[in-house]
Amino acid sequence: MLNKFENYLYEKVNENIPSYTKKAMSYSLMNGGKRIRPQLLFNALQGYGIDPELGFPCACAIEMIHTYSLIHDDLPAMDNDDMRRGKPTCHKAYGESYAILAGDGLLTKAFEVVLETKCDASILVKLVRALSQYAGIDGMIYGQDLDLHGESEEHPSFSMLMDIDEYKTAKLLTLPLICAAYMANMEEDIKTLKKIGFNVGIQFQIVDDILDVTSNEQILGKTTSDVDNNKMTAVSLLGLEKAKQMVEEYDMQLKEDLKNLHMDTSHLEKLFNFLLKRTY
Ligand code: IPE
Ligand code: IPE
Ligand code: MG
Ligand code: MG
Ligand code: MG
Repeated sequence: MLNKFENYLYEKVNENIPSYTKKAMSYSLMNGGKRIRPQLLFNALQGYGIDPELGFPCACAIEMIHTYSLIHDDLPAMDNDDMRRGKPTCHKAYGESYAILAGDGLLTKAFEVVLETKCDASILVKLVRALSQYAGIDGMIYGQDLDLHGESEEHPSFSMLMDIDEYKTAKLLTLPLICAAYMANMEEDIKTLKKIGFNVGIQFQIVDDILDVTSNEQILGKTTSDVDNNKMTAVSLLGLEKAKQMVEEYDMQLKEDLKNLHMDTSHLEKLFNFLLKRTY
């Protein structure tokens, strides 16, 4: 199924007029990401008894938005990183101007692709609104804004860190769960899914922060630069041991939260177990 999804991504990112920007978009999208956000959507749909393939357009849209966020996150004006997904970052391979355009292209294309979801128009409207809200200025972009401010913050605090992680990371991990609930007409689960998305998102970013200092570029496939960039991270603020302990605490909380969903949660649980143990 995931192989089929890779083919779908390839098809969608290559269906437009050939251009240098389109090449850059495809280069970054087809570059071996873990596809965690698509899998959150697929596993939640499976939990609701829905064929995950119905989620391909929405998952593709979310992965396009995520990839755009990475391309822009890596730019010299932001984290200034040279490696991503095992290859030179988009701006290293295609130049800054085209990396900016590739990000713009992926973001806009996402809204075209999500509309190919086979569902009622009333649900489509909800999907489009969710994409915009969770990725936008009250979502991931707000988190990137806070993250940049964090670099020069003289009095870092735990609540600032939670805000950074909630917005820059948890929002895009909550989005696929919410979209699954819309597609399954299971809006009664949205409150719990928001909680799960928040918890899995904070945990995901803490693990990312831990790996940034404990792993290396070869294993992660991306540059480690949090210390150089003076980032406010779980490790810089709490230290490695406390950060690791928090990851375990979030895992226990997630397992509790799953019990409140009206679905077969075994698919999501499997994914959460993978995330807990991930090394890249
Ligand atoms: C990286 O996300 C950015 C963060 C939110 C930490 P992923 O770790 O999901 O990156 P890919 O998609 O696998 O490359
Ligand atoms: C990025 O956080 C979150 C995004 C919105 C892209 P990081 O800056 O820690 O992600 P990596 O470590 O570069 O993947
Ligand atoms: Mg960043
Ligand atoms: Mg970064
Ligand atoms: Mg990081």
